[in-house]
Amino acid sequence: MKSRIDIHSDTYKQNAAGYGKLLDQLHERQRWALAGGGEKLSARHIERGKIPVRDRIDLLLDPGSPFLELSALAAWGLHHNDVQSAGIVTGVGSINGVTCMIVANDATVKGGSFFPETTRKHIRAQEIAWENRLPCIYLVDCGGAYLPEQDRVFPDYGHFGTTFFHQCRMSADGLPQLSAVFGGCTAGGAYIPALSDESVMVDGTGRIHLGGPPIVKAAIGEIVDGETLGGASMHARVSGVTDYLAMSEREALQRLRDIVSNLNWPVRAHATRLPVVPPRFAAEEIGGIIGTDLKRPYDVREVIMRMVDDSALQEFKPEYGATLVCATAHIHGYPVGVLANNGVLFSESSVKGAHFIELCSQRRIPLLFLQNIPGFMVGTEAERGGIARHSAKLVYAMATARVPRITVLIGGSYGAGNYGMCGRGFAPRFLFAWPNSRVCTMSPEVATTVLTELRLASLKGDASEEELAELSERTRRQFEMQSDPYYATARLWDDGIIEPSQTRDVLGICLQLADASTPRFDGPSPVYRM
Ligand code: COA
Repeated sequence: MKSRIDIHSDTYKQNAAGYGKLLDQLHERQRWALAGGGEKLSARHIERGKIPVRDRIDLLLDPGSPFLELSALAAWGLHHNDVQSAGIVTGVGSINGVTCMIVANDATVKGGSFFPETTRKHIRAQEIAWENRLPCIYLVDCGGAYLPEQDRVFPDYGHFGTTFFHQCRMSADGLPQLSAVFGGCTAGGAYIPALSDESVMVDGTGRIHLGGPPIVKAAIGEIVDGETLGGASMHARVSGVTDYLAMSEREALQRLRDIVSNLNWPVRAHATRLPVVPPRFAAEEIGGIIGTDLKRPYDVREVIMRMVDDSALQEFKPEYGATLVCATAHIHGYPVGVLANNGVLFSESSVKGAHFIELCSQRRIPLLFLQNIPGFMVGTEAERGGIARHSAKLVYAMATARVPRITVLIGGSYGAGNYGMCGRGFAPRFLFAWPNSRVCTMSPEVATTVLTELRLASLKGDASEEELAELSERTRRQFEMQSDPYYATARLWDDGIIEPSQTRDVLGICLQLADASTPRFDGPSPVYRM
């Protein structure tokens, strides 16, 4: 494909400069995440002979192999901004060639205890592992539930208990659950290794006890030190709670690598992977193409051709339903069916999308949704044309597609457009967001108008100017704050904010997982001409 972008134009330069500022902000917030619990607690951690959590992961994974970290900015802006990455690092990496899900507590963040976002992040990692059939490796250093938030962490489905429920069910479903214990693991923290298929403990620092010394004293009046109560040596030699005693963290991590290499884990691949050809146009140019103003239109093909192999895409129905670009392409050699917004979704674009999804589903081609969508078309003409049932066809086809679906929010994600384009409610295997994206029922401007009109109607036109101005200002502020991508990622509505230029590589990993876990044929997948 040919690009029509002029990288010397003023528009391009202004867009690139604006997008650069968004990337600076992202990098600054990523530094917050990487700093963990801060200098003092990190220094204490190291003084105790312990290895920082991300270094543990580096030592566990195959040297030089990629680690796809998920939701690094979870809990950003929450809990006084004191719970970096929600106190847990999760992500996908390779151990002796076996792709695994890693779930690792950061003990420098409130003793690795579980806040609501920690629980959500842990569960999300398990969901991804389950769907993509990945063994789970838990690097445990965890003080159990964060007690001041216990009502939001402990009792309900989707809280801490569900992590253990998943652990048992995933193991029974054939997905190995392995852990290594690096620090004091109390209560819920103790159950992670206790429910693992195999566990390793580090002598001297690893502890497992259902109740720590203070709880034991309060409950039964026994005074005992932590090492006697739940030390690694006792658990390896007496209780049998752990299977291996390691003399150092490095030894524990090596032991995990040895266990993984003996899992007898099948390596599967179904699709015909083509040789990898880089795009003809630089992904770094995407910021200069899309800019930061969501209202400014651009041709989404310019974005797609900077992500896919050889910038080659085969468009489906290019002359019809032009506001939804549907195309097959390859990313890192893996086939993919791309659906990307190029404006508001009309009936024509909706049925085209539904038809394309059915084709990909029949051919076992994973789907990639690139969302930049103000919504479906509204108005008398659209309603008389049946937009409600035509848009429903897109939603239905997307929701029932028999192939993995991946979503990237590359711009606005508003209203039912979010649904039709496989928003989080439709459980895509992965959902990532760009730093310029917004997710909300409607834009702040539309919400302000809607709520002001509603208020006027309910007061029968009797509202004062001041009241309406205050309502409008409050609504605008609320919608701006709540549609911010960092508000979303902090609450785990996505799997992380990624840069446009990293997207191709991230998608390559996701498609590799999809390829390895999707059967070539698992029942009929009809194609109804729309
Ligand atoms: N709930 C609330 N806060 C907790 C916590 C928990 N479960 N576990 C640790 N913290 C807090 C500590 O109060 C401390 O906070 P501060 O820095 O504001 O003072 C911070 O996390 C670090 O804890 P600290 O005890 O200094 O770290 P440590 O590395 O020496 O020990 C633990 C870590 C996890 C072994 C130890 O904190 C502990 O035993 N926690 C209580 C575990 C417990 O009883 N859990 C029951 C959950 S149901």
